[in-house]
Amino acid sequence: MSSDFIIPAHIAVIMDGNGRWAKKRGLSRSKGHKAGTEAARAIVRHCREIGVRHLTLYTFSRENWSRPKEEISTIFDLLVNFLNRELGQLVEQDIRLKVLGDIKGLPMASRKALEHAMKKSADCTSLTVNLALNYSSRDEILSACKSMVRDGLSPDDITEEAMAARLYTAGQPDPDLIIRTSGELRLSNYLLWQAAYSEFYFTDVFWPDFTPEELDKALEHYSGRQRRFGKTGEQIESQS
Ligand code: FPP
Repeated sequence: MSSDFIIPAHIAVIMDGNGRWAKKRGLSRSKGHKAGTEAARAIVRHCREIGVRHLTLYTFSRENWSRPKEEISTIFDLLVNFLNRELGQLVEQDIRLKVLGDIKGLPMASRKALEHAMKKSADCTSLTVNLALNYSSRDEILSACKSMVRDGLSPDDITEEAMAARLYTAGQPDPDLIIRTSGELRLSNYLLWQAAYSEFYFTDVFWPDFTPEELDKALEHYSGRQRRFGKTGEQIESQS
């Protein structure tokens, strides 16, 4: 099925709806996040199988620190368990793990587990999985601007390339496709610079129910779209 689709080089996902998925079933929010972690695991595997090269998962935004303390510790416990349990398989499948965001601001146990996972998977090249953690896109852009000032760049040297090279995603292509689950239609401070030409796919499905089959539906939509990058339809057609 997926083999009939155009496979984006980079897919970025806003994994939304764990809490509502749990509520609908009379379960705790923690159970929703647990189910969300299983969904993430299946999506990573599927992306590896179909040849996606970069997958970015919005796992914890800087704004998420305002959630109840217990919920925050549940999410980071799940993350550490995920890394401990999956790292061997990730490396076996040639999957590299990276963090987008300020890792220094994370709880020590998850920071250590992430640093270990990044080190162990550093030479993997088939798929890069970026976990956006303690991530704020506006903050990322501001940090890049500050870095250009610190490096003494002249106005003429302040280019898109100079900016992109200072973002957490440096060296990776911009997302071709951004998916948000659970019916919300916002970008929520996610990859604002990198999303300039991304296609968007929104679905009402809650994240724990976002199976590989749901990803294939997104890919079917994506495959039917014409990416214009500012050109007219005729210009694009005359190129092909
Ligand atoms: C959004 O659902 C989900 C999060 C903010 C946390 C995402 C975390 C995971 C899926 C678990 C860890 C993932 C990995 C890759 C190990 P929500 O709580 O905002 O749902 P709601 O809007 O329905 O309340």
